[in-house]
Amino acid sequence: MAVYEINGGKKLYGEYAVQRSKNSTLAIMCASVLTRGETFIDSCPDISDVNTLGAILTSLGARVVRDSRGLFIDTRNIYSTNLPEGLCSRLRASLFLVGPLLGRFGNVTFHGTGGCSIGSRPIDIHIDGLKALGAAVGEGDDKLIFSAAATKGEKITLKFPSVGATENVMMCAALSDGTTVIENCAAEPEIKDLQDYLNLCGAKIFGAGGGTITVEGVKKLHGGVEYCPIPDRIESGSVLLAVMATGGEVLINNVARENISKLTEKIINNTCKITVYNDKIYIHAKERPNGFGTLVTSPYPGFATDLHPQLIACGAVADGETIVKETVFDCRFKYVDELKRFGADVCVDGQTVRTVGRELHGAAADATDLRGGMALVIAALAAKGASRIGEIRHIERGYENLHKKLSLLGADIVRREDET
Ligand code: UD1
Repeated sequence: MAVYEINGGKKLYGEYAVQRSKNSTLAIMCASVLTRGETFIDSCPDISDVNTLGAILTSLGARVVRDSRGLFIDTRNIYSTNLPEGLCSRLRASLFLVGPLLGRFGNVTFHGTGGCSIGSRPIDIHIDGLKALGAAVGEGDDKLIFSAAATKGEKITLKFPSVGATENVMMCAALSDGTTVIENCAAEPEIKDLQDYLNLCGAKIFGAGGGTITVEGVKKLHGGVEYCPIPDRIESGSVLLAVMATGGEVLINNVARENISKLTEKIINNTCKITVYNDKIYIHAKERPNGFGTLVTSPYPGFATDLHPQLIACGAVADGETIVKETVFDCRFKYVDELKRFGADVCVDGQTVRTVGRELHGAAADATDLRGGMALVIAALAAKGASRIGEIRHIERGYENLHKKLSLLGADIVRREDET
């Protein structure tokens, strides 16, 4: 088991290159199944979620090859629609293969999904959406069997704008007969990215990024495409918050400014100087940040739930109070007990986390999930003294080479294989 050893209290200086979006990449990898062809994902992040999904695709018969430029996927020879239980239990995005496999083959066997332990994470909205397209859903021993002789376009109103359910329905509808209209869909930028990739392959999808998506089904999609996903907005926000917490001066490259405006709006009036360019953000944090006041997470364009723990970690060293009301996931608070190990004054009341900033000290703590793990890294970077973060496999699901990228900014962070 690998750990990060961090000697905190160092300001960060230099340039930081943000990777391509994890969530876009995972959705595009799933969508490549629909093409019966070759997709090259340019600058595909080298993170364990991508590698696990690659292994799932390989187990179905796809060819998945990484080179220094990105990830090549050939889905022509997929022969199985039986999603492998063990691998799928490691990431939530394995669920996003159900829609494309159903759209292409008319059947899928699904044993369950994994991902961060941040709440109950049911899949009823996915099931309702796929049923509306004509799928029958049968239950076996610990598995669901989706089948449809032919899926048909339909008007579907999601009861909540679930990101994954929007993507699943969109992908299945791409090869369905007729037109599908998805109302109350999620508007996250990664969904527009998925639409752009699918349209490059010949799909006819309109409206992603807004509240209604229209999918005109086509007979087939072609491969032979090269696509570069959008920058990872959650990594951009994580680094901004790390620099605010430690102090320093950093140019963050490869940023889609419009996708993190809810965070930058909140930072702009804080103590640091921040300049937002088209594709980069400059931040100069000379003083201790002020507390952020109250934020409420909500589906895009609201404040991203995936930045909640990192914001609280920065708030834990800020001058004053930071409160986050979590409305998207019902149990995204496991990281809070770990944050307390650094001496943070932080507590949870129902769906609300409150912290009043103070000086933190080094500590040994375990990542409990991906973003909660990043929050511990921020706390350790800002704390005085030595820290050791365990269970970093959670962090490595979504951040490529985090320790190396932070080292380049002058952080004292080492990744070590834990012998104990
Ligand atoms: C995706 C992202 C994740 C992000 C989340 C919200 C990926 C791989 N993951 O996760 O990083 O935090 O969007 O922005 O893209 N829900 C139901 N029934 C369902 C589906 C969802 O009740 O069938 C609930 C969930 O339990 C949760 C809320 O809806 O409370 C949001 O979930 P959803 O938008 O589906 O998140 P994911 O697609 O799993």
